[in-house]
Amino acid sequence: MNPSRPLPANRYGGFSADGREYVITDPRPPRPWVNVIANERVGLAVSHTGSGFSWIDNSQLATVTRWQQDLAADRSGKFVYVRDAEDRRLWSLSPSPTWAPLENYACRHGFGYTVFEALHHGIASRWTLFVDVTETVELWLVELTNSSGRARRLSASGYLEWCCGVSPSPRREFGRLFLETWRDDPRRAVFARNHMWDVPSKEFGHWNTSFPFVSAFAASEPVDAAEGDKAAFLGRFGDLPAPAALGEAAWASRFGRHEDPIGALRVPIDLAPGATRRIGFVLATSRDDGETAGLVDRFARLDAIDEALARVGPSWERRLAAHRIETPIASLDALVNDWVRYQAISARLWGRCGYYQQSGAYGFRDQLQDSQVWLTIEPERCRAQLRLHAAHQFADGSVYHWWHPPTEQGHVTAMTDDLLWLAFVAASHLRETGELGILDDESPYLDAPAPAPLSDHVLRAFRRVFGRISPRGIPYIGAGDWNDGLSAMGLAERGESFWLAQFLAGLLRDWAEIWSRRGLPELSSEFAHRREALVAAINRHGWDGEWYLRGTLDSGHPLGASADKVARIFLNPQTWAILSDVASPERAARCLASVRRHLVTDAGALLLAPAFDRPVAEIGYITRYAPGLRENGGVYTHAATWAIAAAAKAKDAELAGRLLAAINPAGKDPERYFAEPYVLPGNVDGPDSPHHGRGGWTWYTGSAAWLHRVVSEWILGVRPEWDGLRIDPCLPPGWDRARMVRPWRGSTWEIEIERGAAPGITVDGAALSGGMIPVPSGVGRHRVRATIA
Ligand code: GLC
Repeated sequence: MNPSRPLPANRYGGFSADGREYVITDPRPPRPWVNVIANERVGLAVSHTGSGFSWIDNSQLATVTRWQQDLAADRSGKFVYVRDAEDRRLWSLSPSPTWAPLENYACRHGFGYTVFEALHHGIASRWTLFVDVTETVELWLVELTNSSGRARRLSASGYLEWCCGVSPSPRREFGRLFLETWRDDPRRAVFARNHMWDVPSKEFGHWNTSFPFVSAFAASEPVDAAEGDKAAFLGRFGDLPAPAALGEAAWASRFGRHEDPIGALRVPIDLAPGATRRIGFVLATSRDDGETAGLVDRFARLDAIDEALARVGPSWERRLAAHRIETPIASLDALVNDWVRYQAISARLWGRCGYYQQSGAYGFRDQLQDSQVWLTIEPERCRAQLRLHAAHQFADGSVYHWWHPPTEQGHVTAMTDDLLWLAFVAASHLRETGELGILDDESPYLDAPAPAPLSDHVLRAFRRVFGRISPRGIPYIGAGDWNDGLSAMGLAERGESFWLAQFLAGLLRDWAEIWSRRGLPELSSEFAHRREALVAAINRHGWDGEWYLRGTLDSGHPLGASADKVARIFLNPQTWAILSDVASPERAARCLASVRRHLVTDAGALLLAPAFDRPVAEIGYITRYAPGLRENGGVYTHAATWAIAAAAKAKDAELAGRLLAAINPAGKDPERYFAEPYVLPGNVDGPDSPHHGRGGWTWYTGSAAWLHRVVSEWILGVRPEWDGLRIDPCLPPGWDRARMVRPWRGSTWEIEIERGAAPGITVDGAALSGGMIPVPSGVGRHRVRATIA
């Protein structure tokens, strides 16, 4: 809303003035700084070095181009080489793989695209990579300008290595026995397919199925050489920085079923002084040769690529426009309004991919939580996500922990919380939209194909959890709750989870309300009674004196207790005691004081402290991470966003503000922080790591969608409740105002929050009592002014 305020920069790069691009100008930041670009079907991950890979439908099982995960060298992927035919100088349009010195280097990561700009050897270049808004094509636009003052004879060669299946492919020698490539000269294209897809198939058994896609790599301009074999391209024991073929007039042109499959296309270019040539490359993937050829015909043309590129920016702007915030912190606005929502949609929901994790799967709890990013802008997409996940539940209420599209391979575990996220996100949807009709949305069970309403799915999940309660009234933890790594605490169904108990208590509160609105008073009162008993049990058995315990092991030994040397206190049981209204105000204050004392660092709130210092088989694999990494005593940003919400809910504005500032990646010192300054990392090392403050696992984290929700609902405090829109800001100290525009129940709400002497709220000039805007009867645009102390 106010793009003129300066955004932080560092020696490697910074945000563009409007915050919509991150521009890297030094090619050696501490780690690959990446963009994850996707539409609902295809995508690519590309780092600032130009390395990366592409996929369709599943970034792990259906990887189109090959990549080696090597974040230190980062020299594996798809590239464009330029060669000067006269003096034989060779360089790439991105730093990798040649690492020729590039003048004026810039890598501009934007929403839905990445551009590499450089000047080398008198040739200015721009290489833009993106995917079409809807079609299954990745498009490259290469622009070369001769600024050398003399006529030049050059070539531009696009290069990629085919995977066409499961990634990573460590058994390349086995895998290539099934790949087939061919040339299609009239189309200036090379094609690839894989006759063996190493996934189990219900129909045909193990591995006995073809990869269900055909890919093509094509150029928009005449091609004078094409290659399909890696050894022929690189030369014997050659390498990507200087492929031998690029120095040869004619290429071996080996295609077929007996080569080491790559795709390379060379476009010759004569460039007069001052002239610019544009070349398009297309990576198209579809179900069969004909469909893929059709995509090549449509997109391997400069005008089609220009048109497709022109649609990308507006598609993101439109998507994100309806809900905006403005705070005194410009970088927070850029993140919350744009970057973390882009991260949640492009990387988490569509690509399901990051540079640290090529997943491709839907996590039952993960993408449901992520889908909350749609609630204020396209709630029907969150509703569709609820249906999708409901269809991955068994009739006994249990669910797949994750499953892979399109093979539908799913993973059954004894994790105890997954199934409840269906109830959680459905409740969020209902509070946002009031559409009780979602409860009638029908989905089958995995083992019972008759469609059943969402309300039935949710109830079966609850019933299953109600059947797994300890004699003390606390749910068992099984093979883990939200924290995957607590994977062995409750394998014998004796270990308990106080966090799960709190999570369940919040859900019982919400669903008592929903059942009553649904006209089911008995169910409603059953839930209310269960909640009362659960809250009492948590407070009786889960309180350690200064904080809540995390749980108990099968042996009965408590976890997260002051008597222990490691893992004495966990974050989630303190924050969810507040979020689920389990703690009394007195205990809530003590929880936050303990969080402050033991868990708050300048890098955010730690998930637990001190870190486990050796493997403990009875607890689980969390104990096997090096101390301070990931969940083991790191700042786990997903949980760190909940801590912000809890502090704000308890009106501890100082703590909320401190925790929020601590996880904002934008202004960090890159020599300490390492990770991208424009998206959230999954974790930041805690103090038990020698790299305290170092971010990692960027992009692929549930914290992205949550940060958006927490800042909107708890810091700015604009929160849908059952009967209205609550206006309940908790601005950090030093913030004197904030604004938000958001849709709610058919109307647009412009909300201004200011500090002032006479606290109160007005809606369209009229005083509002009780702090909650009632559901509007019509459609309109409303101004809300909230004055806070
Ligand atoms: C990973 C998992 C997520 C889990 C979290 C905490 O991010 O994908 O499901 O909740 O770790 O262990």
